[in-house]
Amino acid sequence: MTRDKNQKASLPSKIKPFQTPKGVHDILPYDHEYYTYIKKVVRHRLRQAGFKRISTPIFEYTNVFARSIGDATDIVEKEMYTFEDKKGRNLTLKPEGTAGVVRAYIEHGMKQLPQPVELYYIEPHFRYDRPQKGRYRQFWQLGFEIIGELDAALDAQVILLANKINEDLGIEKLFDIQLNTIGSLEDRKSYIQALKDYYYDKERSLCEHCKVRLQKNPLRLLDCKNEDCMILAELAPKMTDYLSKESLEYYEDVKSYLNELDIPFTENPKLVRGLDYYSNTVFEFWDAKEGAQNAIGGGGRYDGLIEKMGGLPTPAVGYAAGIERIIAHMKREKVRVPHKDNIHVFVAQLGKEAKKKCLKLIDEMREYGIRTIGALGKGSMRQQLKLADKFNVPYTLILGITEVREGTIIIRNMEKGTQEIVKFDQVIDELISKIGEKNLDKYSPGELLY
Ligand code: HAM
Repeated sequence: MTRDKNQKASLPSKIKPFQTPKGVHDILPYDHEYYTYIKKVVRHRLRQAGFKRISTPIFEYTNVFARSIGDATDIVEKEMYTFEDKKGRNLTLKPEGTAGVVRAYIEHGMKQLPQPVELYYIEPHFRYDRPQKGRYRQFWQLGFEIIGELDAALDAQVILLANKINEDLGIEKLFDIQLNTIGSLEDRKSYIQALKDYYYDKERSLCEHCKVRLQKNPLRLLDCKNEDCMILAELAPKMTDYLSKESLEYYEDVKSYLNELDIPFTENPKLVRGLDYYSNTVFEFWDAKEGAQNAIGGGGRYDGLIEKMGGLPTPAVGYAAGIERIIAHMKREKVRVPHKDNIHVFVAQLGKEAKKKCLKLIDEMREYGIRTIGALGKGSMRQQLKLADKFNVPYTLILGITEVREGTIIIRNMEKGTQEIVKFDQVIDELISKIGEKNLDKYSPGELLY
Protein backbone atom coordinates (compact mmCIF):
# COMPACT_ATOMS: atom_id res chain seq x y z
CA MET A 1 0.00 0.00 0.00
CA THR A 2 2.68 2.50 1.05
CA ARG A 3 4.89 1.35 -1.81
CA ASP A 4 2.17 2.02 -4.41
CA LYS A 5 1.49 5.41 -2.97
CA ASN A 6 5.16 6.37 -3.15
CA GLN A 7 5.52 5.10 -6.69
CA LYS A 8 2.50 7.02 -7.88
CA ALA A 9 3.74 10.16 -6.21
CA SER A 10 7.08 10.11 -8.02
CA LEU A 11 6.45 8.48 -11.41
CA PRO A 12 3.98 9.42 -14.15
CA SER A 13 1.93 6.29 -14.95
CA LYS A 14 3.41 5.55 -18.42
CA ILE A 15 6.95 5.25 -17.03
CA LYS A 16 7.98 1.71 -16.13
CA PRO A 17 9.23 1.53 -12.54
CA PHE A 18 12.67 0.28 -13.55
CA GLN A 19 14.10 2.21 -16.44
CA THR A 20 16.60 5.02 -16.81
CA PRO A 21 15.17 8.48 -16.15
CA LYS A 22 14.45 10.66 -19.17
CA GLY A 23 17.57 12.03 -20.83
CA VAL A 24 20.12 9.69 -19.23
CA HIS A 25 21.66 6.52 -20.66
CA ASP A 26 23.58 3.43 -19.75
CA ILE A 27 26.97 3.25 -21.42
CA LEU A 28 27.00 -0.32 -22.71
CA PRO A 29 30.23 -2.21 -23.47
CA TYR A 30 30.17 -1.39 -27.19
CA ASP A 31 30.06 2.34 -26.48
CA HIS A 32 32.66 2.05 -23.76
CA GLU A 33 35.15 1.20 -26.49
CA TYR A 34 34.66 4.78 -27.68
CA TYR A 35 34.81 6.32 -24.21
CA THR A 36 38.02 4.46 -23.37
CA TYR A 37 39.61 5.42 -26.66
CA ILE A 38 38.64 9.09 -26.33
CA LYS A 39 39.95 9.20 -22.75
CA LYS A 40 43.26 7.72 -23.94
CA VAL A 41 43.60 10.25 -26.76
CA VAL A 42 42.78 13.14 -24.41
CA ARG A 43 45.20 11.93 -21.76
CA HIS A 44 47.97 11.47 -24.29
CA ARG A 45 47.55 14.83 -26.02
CA LEU A 46 47.20 16.80 -22.81
CA ARG A 47 49.98 14.98 -20.96
CA GLN A 48 52.30 15.85 -23.86
CA ALA A 49 51.37 19.49 -23.32
CA GLY A 50 52.05 19.38 -19.57
CA PHE A 51 48.44 19.18 -18.31
CA LYS A 52 47.53 17.27 -15.14
CA ARG A 53 44.18 15.63 -14.47
CA ILE A 54 41.72 16.98 -11.94
CA SER A 55 38.34 15.68 -10.78
CA THR A 56 36.01 17.96 -8.90
CA PRO A 57 32.97 16.63 -7.01
CA ILE A 58 29.81 15.66 -8.84
CA PHE A 59 27.95 18.22 -6.72
CA GLU A 60 28.98 21.55 -5.25
CA TYR A 61 27.30 24.32 -3.32
CA THR A 62 24.90 25.93 -5.77
CA ASN A 63 26.55 29.35 -5.55
CA VAL A 64 29.75 27.93 -7.16
CA PHE A 65 27.79 27.58 -10.40
CA ALA A 66 25.25 30.36 -10.04
CA ARG A 67 27.91 32.96 -9.38
CA SER A 68 30.32 31.86 -12.10
CA ILE A 69 28.04 30.81 -14.95
CA GLY A 70 25.69 33.74 -14.27
CA ASP A 71 22.19 34.03 -12.80
CA ALA A 72 20.66 35.10 -16.10
CA THR A 73 21.97 32.21 -18.20
CA ASP A 74 19.83 29.30 -19.43
CA ILE A 75 21.99 26.89 -17.44
CA VAL A 76 21.45 28.58 -14.10
CA GLU A 77 17.87 29.66 -14.74
CA LYS A 78 16.50 26.43 -16.13
CA GLU A 79 18.95 23.60 -16.36
CA MET A 80 20.51 22.94 -12.99
CA TYR A 81 19.74 19.91 -10.86
CA THR A 82 19.52 21.70 -7.54
CA PHE A 83 18.50 20.11 -4.26
CA GLU A 84 18.78 20.53 -0.53
CA ASP A 85 20.57 17.96 1.57
CA LYS A 86 19.24 16.81 4.93
CA LYS A 87 20.72 19.83 6.68
CA GLY A 88 19.15 22.22 4.18
CA ARG A 89 22.38 23.01 2.30
CA ASN A 90 21.74 24.09 -1.26
CA LEU A 91 23.62 21.83 -3.67
CA THR A 92 23.75 21.37 -7.45
CA LEU A 93 24.97 18.58 -9.74
CA LYS A 94 27.71 20.11 -11.83
CA PRO A 95 26.39 21.40 -15.16
CA GLU A 96 29.90 22.19 -16.47
CA GLY A 97 33.52 21.82 -15.39
CA THR A 98 35.14 25.26 -15.31
CA ALA A 99 33.46 26.61 -12.17
CA GLY A 100 34.51 23.61 -10.07
CA VAL A 101 38.08 23.74 -11.37
CA VAL A 102 38.31 27.44 -10.53
CA ARG A 103 36.86 26.79 -7.07
CA ALA A 104 39.50 24.07 -6.57
CA TYR A 105 42.29 26.34 -7.87
CA ILE A 106 41.39 28.92 -5.23
CA GLU A 107 40.58 26.47 -2.42
CA HIS A 108 43.88 24.57 -2.79
CA GLY A 109 46.06 27.65 -3.17
CA MET A 110 47.20 26.69 -6.66
CA LYS A 111 48.28 30.27 -7.18
CA GLN A 112 51.43 29.18 -5.30
CA LEU A 113 52.29 26.65 -8.02
CA PRO A 114 54.34 27.61 -11.09
CA GLN A 115 51.91 29.41 -13.40
CA PRO A 116 50.11 28.75 -15.58
CA VAL A 117 48.45 25.76 -13.96
CA GLU A 118 47.24 23.42 -16.70
CA LEU A 119 44.43 21.07 -15.74
CA TYR A 120 42.17 18.68 -17.63
CA TYR A 121 39.10 16.64 -16.77
CA ILE A 122 36.93 13.89 -18.20
CA GLU A 123 33.74 13.87 -16.18
CA PRO A 124 29.97 13.44 -16.27
CA HIS A 125 27.89 16.63 -16.13
CA PHE A 126 24.19 17.25 -15.62
CA ARG A 127 21.79 19.70 -17.23
CA TYR A 128 18.02 19.64 -17.18
CA ASP A 129 17.98 20.13 -20.95
CA ARG A 130 15.15 19.05 -23.25
CA PRO A 131 16.43 15.65 -24.37
CA GLN A 132 16.95 15.36 -28.13
CA LYS A 133 19.69 14.31 -30.51
CA GLY A 134 23.03 15.23 -28.90
CA ARG A 135 21.34 16.76 -25.85
CA TYR A 136 21.11 14.72 -22.67
CA ARG A 137 20.56 15.26 -18.98
CA GLN A 138 23.72 13.42 -18.05
CA PHE A 139 26.57 13.81 -20.52
CA TRP A 140 30.34 13.52 -20.42
CA GLN A 141 32.68 16.36 -21.13
CA LEU A 142 36.39 16.42 -21.76
CA GLY A 143 37.77 19.79 -20.84
CA PHE A 144 40.98 21.62 -20.10
CA GLU A 145 41.92 24.92 -18.53
CA ILE A 146 45.08 27.06 -18.50
CA ILE A 147 44.98 29.25 -15.40
CA GLY A 148 47.40 32.01 -14.43
CA GLU A 149 48.71 33.54 -17.65
CA LEU A 150 47.37 36.11 -20.09
CA ASP A 151 48.65 35.77 -23.62
CA ALA A 152 46.92 35.40 -26.98
CA ALA A 153 49.33 32.55 -27.76
CA LEU A 154 47.65 30.51 -25.01
CA ASP A 155 44.21 31.08 -26.54
CA ALA A 156 45.60 29.80 -29.83
CA GLN A 157 47.21 26.87 -28.02
CA VAL A 158 43.87 25.84 -26.47
CA ILE A 159 42.20 25.90 -29.90
CA LEU A 160 45.15 23.97 -31.35
CA LEU A 161 44.87 21.24 -28.70
CA ALA A 162 41.11 20.97 -29.16
CA ASN A 163 41.68 20.60 -32.88
CA LYS A 164 44.44 18.02 -32.36
CA ILE A 165 42.12 15.91 -30.23
CA ASN A 166 39.52 16.06 -33.00
CA GLU A 167 42.22 15.13 -35.51
CA ASP A 168 43.30 12.13 -33.43
CA LEU A 169 39.67 11.03 -33.27
CA GLY A 170 39.29 11.32 -37.06
CA ILE A 171 36.60 14.01 -36.99
CA GLU A 172 38.40 17.36 -37.35
CA LYS A 173 37.12 17.91 -40.90
CA LEU A 174 33.52 17.89 -39.68
CA PHE A 175 33.87 21.14 -37.78
CA ASP A 176 34.10 24.80 -38.41
CA ILE A 177 35.90 26.82 -35.76
CA GLN A 178 33.82 29.91 -34.99
CA LEU A 179 35.80 32.69 -33.39
CA ASN A 180 34.90 35.99 -31.81
CA THR A 181 35.96 38.44 -29.15
CA ILE A 182 33.52 39.84 -26.66
CA GLY A 183 36.06 42.34 -25.35
CA SER A 184 37.02 43.21 -21.82
CA LEU A 185 34.49 43.86 -19.05
CA GLU A 186 34.89 47.58 -19.66
CA ASP A 187 34.32 47.25 -23.41
CA ARG A 188 31.24 45.23 -22.73
CA LYS A 189 29.67 47.83 -20.47
CA SER A 190 29.49 50.41 -23.27
CA TYR A 191 28.47 47.77 -25.80
CA ILE A 192 25.64 46.52 -23.60
CA GLN A 193 24.42 50.09 -23.23
CA ALA A 194 24.46 50.43 -27.02
CA LEU A 195 22.46 47.21 -27.33
CA LYS A 196 19.92 48.42 -24.79
CA ASP A 197 19.54 51.68 -26.70
CA TYR A 198 19.11 49.83 -29.98
CA TYR A 199 16.47 47.46 -28.60
CA TYR A 200 14.67 50.20 -26.64
CA ASP A 201 11.82 50.62 -29.14
CA LYS A 202 11.99 47.08 -30.53
CA GLU A 203 11.15 45.16 -27.39
CA ARG A 204 7.66 44.25 -28.61
CA SER A 205 9.09 42.34 -31.60
CA LEU A 206 11.29 40.15 -29.40
CA CYS A 207 10.42 36.61 -28.27
CA GLU A 208 9.42 36.15 -24.63
CA HIS A 209 12.91 34.87 -23.69
CA CYS A 210 14.62 37.83 -25.28
CA LYS A 211 12.37 40.29 -23.47
CA VAL A 212 13.81 38.89 -20.25
CA ARG A 213 17.33 38.73 -21.71
CA LEU A 214 17.11 42.41 -22.60
CA GLN A 215 16.78 43.18 -18.90
CA LYS A 216 19.15 40.56 -17.51
CA ASN A 217 21.71 39.63 -20.14
CA PRO A 218 21.43 41.63 -23.40
CA LEU A 219 24.42 39.91 -25.02
CA ARG A 220 22.36 36.73 -25.30
CA LEU A 221 19.95 38.57 -27.63
CA LEU A 222 22.55 38.07 -30.33
CA ASP A 223 22.39 34.30 -30.48
CA CYS A 224 18.63 33.74 -30.12
CA LYS A 225 17.31 31.29 -32.72
CA ASN A 226 13.89 32.95 -33.07
CA GLU A 227 13.47 34.29 -36.61
CA ASP A 228 12.35 37.83 -35.65
CA CYS A 229 15.08 38.10 -33.03
CA MET A 230 17.64 36.95 -35.58
CA ILE A 231 16.62 39.68 -38.02
CA LEU A 232 16.91 42.32 -35.30
CA ALA A 233 20.26 40.90 -34.15
CA GLU A 234 21.58 41.18 -37.70
CA LEU A 235 21.11 44.97 -37.60
CA ALA A 236 22.18 45.44 -33.98
CA PRO A 237 25.41 47.31 -33.09
CA LYS A 238 28.50 45.15 -33.50
CA MET A 239 30.79 44.36 -30.59
CA THR A 240 33.84 45.08 -32.75
CA ASP A 241 32.83 48.76 -32.85
CA TYR A 242 33.04 48.95 -29.06
CA LEU A 243 36.34 47.19 -28.51
CA SER A 244 39.21 49.05 -26.88
CA LYS A 245 42.53 49.26 -28.71
CA GLU A 246 43.99 46.57 -26.39
CA SER A 247 41.11 44.17 -26.95
CA LEU A 248 41.34 44.66 -30.71
CA GLU A 249 45.07 44.03 -30.66
CA TYR A 250 44.59 40.97 -28.51
CA TYR A 251 42.06 39.58 -30.97
CA GLU A 252 44.37 40.31 -33.91
CA ASP A 253 47.12 38.39 -32.10
CA VAL A 254 44.88 35.36 -31.53
CA LYS A 255 44.01 35.33 -35.23
CA SER A 256 47.59 35.71 -36.37
CA TYR A 257 48.72 32.83 -34.11
CA LEU A 258 45.95 30.63 -35.48
CA ASN A 259 47.04 31.51 -39.01
CA GLU A 260 50.61 30.69 -38.06
CA LEU A 261 49.42 27.28 -36.84
CA ASP A 262 47.42 26.75 -40.06
CA ILE A 263 44.16 26.43 -38.18
CA PRO A 264 41.27 27.66 -40.30
CA PHE A 265 38.54 29.59 -38.49
CA THR A 266 35.47 31.66 -39.26
CA GLU A 267 35.01 35.00 -37.58
CA ASN A 268 31.53 35.21 -36.12
CA PRO A 269 30.75 38.57 -34.49
CA LYS A 270 27.50 37.14 -33.07
CA LEU A 271 29.12 34.35 -31.10
CA VAL A 272 28.69 35.13 -27.39
CA ARG A 273 28.54 31.66 -25.66
CA GLY A 274 25.94 30.66 -23.13
CA LEU A 275 27.97 31.27 -19.98
CA ASP A 276 28.64 34.68 -18.45
CA TYR A 277 32.23 34.30 -17.34
CA TYR A 278 33.92 34.93 -20.68
CA SER A 279 35.95 37.94 -21.75
CA ASN A 280 37.86 38.59 -24.98
CA THR A 281 38.31 35.37 -26.97
CA VAL A 282 35.36 33.01 -27.39
CA PHE A 283 35.15 30.09 -29.82
CA GLU A 284 33.04 27.08 -30.70
CA PHE A 285 33.51 24.01 -32.85
CA TRP A 286 30.37 23.92 -35.00
CA ASP A 287 29.19 20.98 -37.02
CA ALA A 288 29.95 22.07 -40.60
CA LYS A 289 26.49 20.86 -41.71
CA GLU A 290 24.26 21.60 -38.73
CA GLY A 291 25.98 24.66 -37.27
CA ALA A 292 25.62 25.70 -33.64
CA GLN A 293 22.90 23.11 -32.97
CA ASN A 294 25.37 20.30 -32.89
CA ALA A 295 28.50 22.10 -31.64
CA ILE A 296 30.85 19.57 -30.10
CA GLY A 297 32.77 22.01 -28.00
CA GLY A 298 33.45 25.55 -27.03
CA GLY A 299 35.47 27.73 -24.76
CA GLY A 300 37.26 30.97 -24.33
CA ARG A 301 39.01 33.31 -21.96
CA TYR A 302 37.61 34.03 -18.50
CA ASP A 303 40.00 36.52 -16.95
CA GLY A 304 37.53 37.90 -14.39
CA LEU A 305 36.18 34.63 -13.00
CA ILE A 306 38.81 33.74 -10.42
CA GLU A 307 38.55 37.14 -8.78
CA LYS A 308 34.76 36.97 -8.94
CA MET A 309 34.92 33.70 -7.01
CA GLY A 310 37.08 35.14 -4.28
CA GLY A 311 40.59 34.54 -5.63
CA LEU A 312 43.28 37.00 -6.64
CA PRO A 313 42.93 38.48 -10.12
CA THR A 314 44.09 35.63 -12.37
CA PRO A 315 43.65 35.26 -16.12
CA ALA A 316 42.53 31.94 -17.59
CA VAL A 317 41.40 30.25 -20.79
CA GLY A 318 39.86 26.85 -21.51
CA TYR A 319 37.72 24.52 -23.59
CA ALA A 320 35.26 21.67 -23.14
CA ALA A 321 33.66 19.22 -25.56
CA GLY A 322 30.73 16.83 -25.25
CA ILE A 323 31.86 13.20 -25.48
CA GLU A 324 28.48 11.82 -26.63
CA ARG A 325 28.51 14.27 -29.52
CA ILE A 326 32.09 13.32 -30.37
CA ILE A 327 31.07 9.64 -30.43
CA ALA A 328 28.06 10.39 -32.65
CA HIS A 329 30.39 12.10 -35.13
CA MET A 330 32.90 9.24 -34.97
CA LYS A 331 30.13 6.77 -35.72
CA ARG A 332 28.90 8.94 -38.57
CA GLU A 333 32.42 8.95 -40.00
CA LYS A 334 32.75 5.20 -39.35
CA VAL A 335 35.96 5.81 -37.39
CA ARG A 336 37.31 2.46 -36.21
CA VAL A 337 38.15 2.35 -32.54
CA PRO A 338 40.98 0.01 -31.63
CA HIS A 339 40.23 -1.95 -28.48
CA LYS A 340 41.48 -4.99 -26.61
CA ASP A 341 38.18 -6.54 -25.64
CA ASN A 342 38.52 -9.59 -27.92
CA ILE A 343 39.05 -12.91 -26.17
CA HIS A 344 41.99 -15.12 -27.25
CA VAL A 345 40.98 -18.47 -25.81
CA PHE A 346 37.89 -20.26 -24.56
CA VAL A 347 38.46 -23.19 -22.21
CA ALA A 348 35.97 -26.08 -22.29
CA GLN A 349 36.15 -28.93 -19.79
CA LEU A 350 34.33 -32.05 -18.73
CA GLY A 351 34.47 -33.76 -15.33
CA LYS A 352 35.47 -32.62 -11.89
CA GLU A 353 39.20 -33.36 -12.31
CA ALA A 354 39.31 -31.42 -15.57
CA LYS A 355 37.54 -28.50 -14.00
CA LYS A 356 40.09 -28.34 -11.17
CA LYS A 357 42.99 -28.35 -13.62
CA CYS A 358 41.28 -25.72 -15.78
CA LEU A 359 40.78 -23.35 -12.89
CA LYS A 360 44.54 -23.15 -12.39
CA LEU A 361 45.34 -23.18 -16.07
CA ILE A 362 42.99 -20.26 -16.79
CA ASP A 363 44.57 -18.22 -14.03
CA GLU A 364 48.06 -18.96 -15.36
CA MET A 365 47.11 -18.15 -18.94
CA ARG A 366 45.78 -14.77 -17.87
CA GLU A 367 49.03 -14.06 -16.02
CA TYR A 368 50.83 -14.53 -19.35
CA GLY A 369 48.50 -12.01 -20.98
CA ILE A 370 46.28 -14.51 -22.79
CA ARG A 371 42.73 -13.17 -22.57
CA THR A 372 40.81 -16.24 -21.49
CA ILE A 373 37.28 -17.18 -20.55
CA GLY A 374 36.33 -20.59 -19.24
CA ALA A 375 33.01 -22.39 -19.29
CA LEU A 376 33.09 -23.48 -15.69
CA GLY A 377 29.40 -24.36 -15.46
CA LYS A 378 27.89 -27.77 -16.01
CA GLY A 379 27.14 -27.64 -19.74
CA SER A 380 27.85 -30.60 -22.07
CA MET A 381 30.92 -30.41 -24.33
CA ARG A 382 28.61 -29.67 -27.28
CA GLN A 383 27.02 -26.75 -25.44
CA GLN A 384 30.39 -25.38 -24.42
CA LEU A 385 31.73 -25.50 -27.98
CA LYS A 386 28.61 -23.71 -29.21
CA LEU A 387 29.29 -21.02 -26.63
CA ALA A 388 32.92 -20.74 -27.76
CA ASP A 389 31.61 -20.14 -31.27
CA LYS A 390 29.35 -17.36 -30.05
CA PHE A 391 32.25 -15.63 -28.30
CA ASN A 392 34.04 -15.63 -31.62
CA VAL A 393 37.34 -16.83 -30.13
CA PRO A 394 40.19 -17.98 -32.37
CA TYR A 395 41.13 -20.94 -30.11
CA THR A 396 39.33 -23.29 -27.76
CA LEU A 397 41.06 -25.60 -25.31
CA ILE A 398 39.29 -28.88 -24.59
CA LEU A 399 40.05 -30.88 -21.50
CA GLY A 400 38.04 -34.08 -20.92
CA ILE A 401 38.49 -37.12 -18.71
CA THR A 402 40.82 -38.85 -21.24
CA GLU A 403 43.08 -35.80 -21.60
CA VAL A 404 43.38 -35.44 -17.81
CA ARG A 405 44.38 -39.11 -17.57
CA GLU A 406 46.95 -38.78 -20.37
CA GLY A 407 48.34 -35.37 -19.29
CA THR A 408 47.32 -33.74 -22.58
CA ILE A 409 44.89 -31.07 -23.80
CA ILE A 410 43.30 -30.32 -27.17
CA ILE A 411 43.77 -26.99 -28.97
CA ARG A 412 40.97 -26.34 -31.43
CA ASN A 413 41.45 -23.76 -34.16
CA MET A 414 37.93 -22.36 -34.38
CA GLU A 415 38.25 -20.79 -37.80
CA LYS A 416 39.75 -23.80 -39.56
CA GLY A 417 37.91 -26.38 -37.46
CA THR A 418 41.16 -28.34 -36.91
CA GLN A 419 42.39 -29.82 -33.63
CA GLU A 420 45.75 -30.85 -32.22
CA ILE A 421 46.68 -32.65 -29.02
CA VAL A 422 49.51 -31.11 -27.01
CA LYS A 423 51.10 -31.89 -23.66
CA PHE A 424 49.22 -30.16 -20.85
CA ASP A 425 52.46 -28.61 -19.53
CA GLN A 426 53.28 -27.09 -22.89
CA VAL A 427 49.92 -25.64 -23.79
CA ILE A 428 50.71 -22.07 -22.70
CA ASP A 429 53.88 -21.95 -24.82
CA GLU A 430 51.95 -23.34 -27.77
CA LEU A 431 49.22 -20.74 -27.38
CA ILE A 432 51.68 -17.85 -27.04
CA SER A 433 53.37 -18.85 -30.28
CA LYS A 434 49.98 -18.98 -32.02
CA ILE A 435 48.64 -15.71 -30.63
CA GLY A 436 51.95 -13.87 -30.99
CA GLU A 437 53.97 -12.32 -28.17
CA LYS A 438 53.00 -8.77 -29.27
CA ASN A 439 49.29 -9.49 -28.99
CA LEU A 440 49.44 -10.59 -25.37
CA ASP A 441 47.67 -8.46 -22.80
CA LYS A 442 50.26 -8.53 -20.04
CA TYR A 443 49.35 -6.77 -16.86
CA SER A 444 52.04 -5.68 -14.50
CA PRO A 445 50.70 -3.17 -11.94
CA GLY A 446 54.16 -1.74 -11.23
CA GLU A 447 54.64 -0.82 -14.87
CA LEU A 448 51.21 0.63 -15.52
CA LEU A 449 51.49 4.25 -16.59
CA TYR A 450 48.69 6.55 -15.70
P1 HAM B 1 29.48 24.49 -23.07
O1 HAM B 1 29.48 25.08 -24.45
O2 HAM B 1 28.33 24.78 -22.20
O3 HAM B 1 30.84 24.97 -22.40
O4 HAM B 1 29.63 22.93 -23.18
C1 HAM B 1 30.66 22.34 -23.92
C2 HAM B 1 30.12 21.16 -24.73
O5 HAM B 1 29.45 20.23 -23.88
C3 HAM B 1 29.07 21.51 -25.76
O6 HAM B 1 29.66 22.03 -26.94
C4 HAM B 1 28.41 20.17 -26.00
O7 HAM B 1 29.18 19.37 -26.88
C5 HAM B 1 28.47 19.53 -24.62
N1 HAM B 1 27.15 19.64 -24.01
C6 HAM B 1 26.63 20.68 -23.34
N2 HAM B 1 25.38 20.41 -22.91
C7 HAM B 1 25.10 19.16 -23.33
C8 HAM B 1 23.98 18.28 -23.19
N3 HAM B 1 22.88 18.65 -22.54
N4 HAM B 1 24.05 17.04 -23.74
C9 HAM B 1 25.16 16.65 -24.40
N5 HAM B 1 26.26 17.43 -24.54
C10 HAM B 1 26.23 18.66 -24.02
C11 HAM B 1 31.21 24.68 -21.13
O8 HAM B 1 30.69 23.80 -20.47
C12 HAM B 1 32.42 25.46 -20.67
N6 HAM B 1 32.72 25.02 -19.31
C13 HAM B 1 33.60 25.25 -21.59
C14 HAM B 1 34.82 25.96 -21.11
C15 HAM B 1 35.90 25.40 -20.48
N7 HAM B 1 35.06 27.26 -21.21
C16 HAM B 1 36.25 27.54 -20.65
N8 HAM B 1 36.74 26.40 -20.20
